[in-house]
Amino acid sequence: MDIISEAALRKELHTAVLGNRFELYQTIDSTNLRAKLAAQAGEPEGLCVIAEEQIAGRGRLGRSFLSPRGNGVYMSVLLRPSPEIEQPALLTAAVSVCVARAIEAVSDSRAEIKWVNDLFVRGKKVCGILTEAAVAPDGRQLAYAVVGIGVNLSDAGIPEELREIAGGIAPADVTPPSRTRLIAAILNETEEMLRAFSPDRFLSEYRSRSNVIGKQVTLLRNGAPTDSGTALDIDDQARLVVRLNSGEIKHLNSGEISCRAEF
Ligand code: BTN
Repeated sequence: MDIISEAALRKELHTAVLGNRFELYQTIDSTNLRAKLAAQAGEPEGLCVIAEEQIAGRGRLGRSFLSPRGNGVYMSVLLRPSPEIEQPALLTAAVSVCVARAIEAVSDSRAEIKWVNDLFVRGKKVCGILTEAAVAPDGRQLAYAVVGIGVNLSDAGIPEELREIAGGIAPADVTPPSRTRLIAAILNETEEMLRAFSPDRFLSEYRSRSNVIGKQVTLLRNGAPTDSGTALDIDDQARLVVRLNSGEIKHLNSGEISCRAEF
């Protein structure tokens, strides 16, 4: 596993803003938490917080995110989104596409997206993304958004009890990609995407990478099944369009509900 250093990152980085400042930690509670505190203290856009391990990694829907040393990239990027980006859901969808591209740029693995923004390789979750945003006093624009990304590098580092559902970018017998190149590729792709933010630039790719469209899905609230149906599409606000078994069509908002696809 390569050592992450600022000097090595800078050699791979082509950005003007993202990664203008790095904070690198051996151990931290949560890189998202650290980036949010920096945002609240007035830190400008671009800070990237990276840790070798997190002891209180945060996941979506209030869950924790296991973040052991030695097999992961745990990073958070501070954005001060432009006024046209009002919806964190679209921002996260755009970043999912960027991370998928970055994974493919540094490995031979194909990355799919499971709605909302889990990345899958060889049928297993390899990456989760958590965006935590604060609304500006005007009530419309986002004051900041912290996009946190956790990626597993190798199947070899996944604990036995999680191997059914989680994996790494590389199979156990293949050398995992350089974490430095992966982080830089994520930042390079994301900056290019946000330079001119428009759903037209990522939604069709988001759909074509989806491993959920066309599948039977079970809708979950607080982990418990509430309904089931067929995933038909992802709409222009990155909501999942589902035909429930009753025939009713629903556009699901990522904040309210998650889904389990029958692969
Ligand atoms: C999920 O799968 O529910 C989202 C997981 C997001 C994990 C990343 S790791 C870096 C950043 N810091 C955190 O505490 N969480 C995100």
